[in-house]
Amino acid sequence: MSELHIVNHPLVAHKLSIMRNQKTGSKDFRELLEEISMLMGYELTRDLPLEPVEIETPLARMQASTISGKKLAIVPILRAGLGMVDGLLRLLPVAKVGHIGLYRDPDTHLPVEYYCKLPPDIGERRVILADPMLATGGSAADALTLLKQHGCRKIRFMCLVAAPEGVRRVQSEHPDVDIFTAALDQGLNDHAYIVPGLGDAGDRIFGTL
Ligand code: PRP
Ligand code: URA
Repeated sequence: MSELHIVNHPLVAHKLSIMRNQKTGSKDFRELLEEISMLMGYELTRDLPLEPVEIETPLARMQASTISGKKLAIVPILRAGLGMVDGLLRLLPVAKVGHIGLYRDPDTHLPVEYYCKLPPDIGERRVILADPMLATGGSAADALTLLKQHGCRKIRFMCLVAAPEGVRRVQSEHPDVDIFTAALDQGLNDHAYIVPGLGDAGDRIFGTL
């Protein structure tokens, strides 16, 4: 069963509160999203497998540890997921980056796919799917289906703010995918926006309000 991890570190909570404030401008919003993504990436990668490696320090030979096994890929859902990539890449500088373009139809609130470019060996990689907002869950669920069609088997979904509706949707359609979020909010309004949420993440990142 998919697990919901709420990353409730004080630094994450503090930075998210600033992001939620409607007075926070795009520059600060972007920087805070990058910082939180890095902090959350630390939690999300906590159980990456290690393997021993023999190294020589200036004083002695030793058996140290290195990350083993499958390589990683970061896949943001465009547009807003782009704001999480740089923070994750600071932790995982050799990860490949794929892109999935989805937008929510304003009337139906259903996701519409317009772009998909993934590393050719994505099926052999551990994947972090990133999008700040998990609202109805339609975008995340469709992106996860697309990744699985490309052979991905080890996927984690990382967001900033989740609604219970979106969590339920992802967990029922993708029970093998763990969700990492900084906050679980009350629910959705009539326009399928998260309440209290932080508004339209893409617009706040790119200043297109
Ligand atoms: C937002 C957000 C998610 C989606 C969440 O993107 O970044 O992708 O909505 O909603 P859902 O869970 O109900 O599918 P949006 O469609 O506004 O596109 P944008 O990132 O290009 O602004
Ligand atoms: N997309 C957003 O950017 N914000 C929401 O609250 C819901 C969907």
